[in-house]
Amino acid sequence: MALLQINDLHVRYGEIVALQGVSFDVAEGQVVTLLGANGAGKSTTLRAISGLAKPTQGDILYDGKSIAGLGPEAIVRMGISHVPEGRRVFPGLTVKENIMLGGSNRRAAKAELSREADAMFDLFPDIRKFANSLGWTLSGGQLQMVAVARGLMAKPRLLLLDEPSLGLAPVIVQAVFRIISEIRRTTTVLLVEQNARMGLSVADHGYVLETGKIVLGGKPDELWGNEAIRAAYLGGHGKVPKEAAAMPHL
Ligand SMILES: Nc1ncnc2c1ncn2[C@@H]1O[C@H](COP(=O)(O)OP(=O)(O)OP(=O)(O)O)[C@@H](O)[C@H]1O
Ligand SMILES: [Mg+2]
Repeated sequence: MALLQINDLHVRYGEIVALQGVSFDVAEGQVVTLLGANGAGKSTTLRAISGLAKPTQGDILYDGKSIAGLGPEAIVRMGISHVPEGRRVFPGLTVKENIMLGGSNRRAAKAELSREADAMFDLFPDIRKFANSLGWTLSGGQLQMVAVARGLMAKPRLLLLDEPSLGLAPVIVQAVFRIISEIRRTTTVLLVEQNARMGLSVADHGYVLETGKIVLGGKPDELWGNEAIRAAYLGGHGKVPKEAAAMPHL
């Protein structure tokens, strides 16, 4: 049984139909990437899973149990952590305090959260020097790292990552994806990406969303291998990207 099973999910915002029958699975231990153009419904899918958007039809099974319609606090307690679009970091707190906030769903002592937050800087060495300073100025990539570290502090069984590479310089994108390939050793990841090359390079499976429906799904090399698919949805050229070829599991 898959860790996450999405069945015929429908979500609307008032009159706007954002998802119209989305179905896919995420197996435990995998990285699954959702691709699609602006407005396709990628973020809405993550929002429905984490309880921020209510489905009007369909179901979301997590570990075999329906979580559709539960609130975000209940869902985070069940082990699902959502790193949303945009990089929300609280300016009045130090970087380490920002990261520790991610553990507030757990019944862990503050000292333990503090130790774990310190350990996050091994995964994200670029932001270590800002750990205890107030009045920091972080780059987009560094803010993204704080947001991902905060998501990991929840010790999720399933991590939902919404466009972690958006707006980042290529070298920073690579750093963020290196981190995702670290995270995948311990955590199941559902990743939303517009950067199909990078998104597929870390994935076990990919899906393409178009106007609220899954129109394609397959293994990364299958998605890349199909010329028509690449032209229509992925906007790329050539073979499986170098990054993908270098990944040991592909
Ligand atoms: N709060 C909202 N109120 C009304 N409509 C919304 C809201 N959020 C999203 N939508 C609409 O729902 C649809 C899906 O949006 P969603 O944000 O899920 O797309 P996306 O694939 O994440 O796009 P992007 O790549 O731009 O982030 C779009 O038509 C969008 O305009
Ligand atoms: Mg989005």
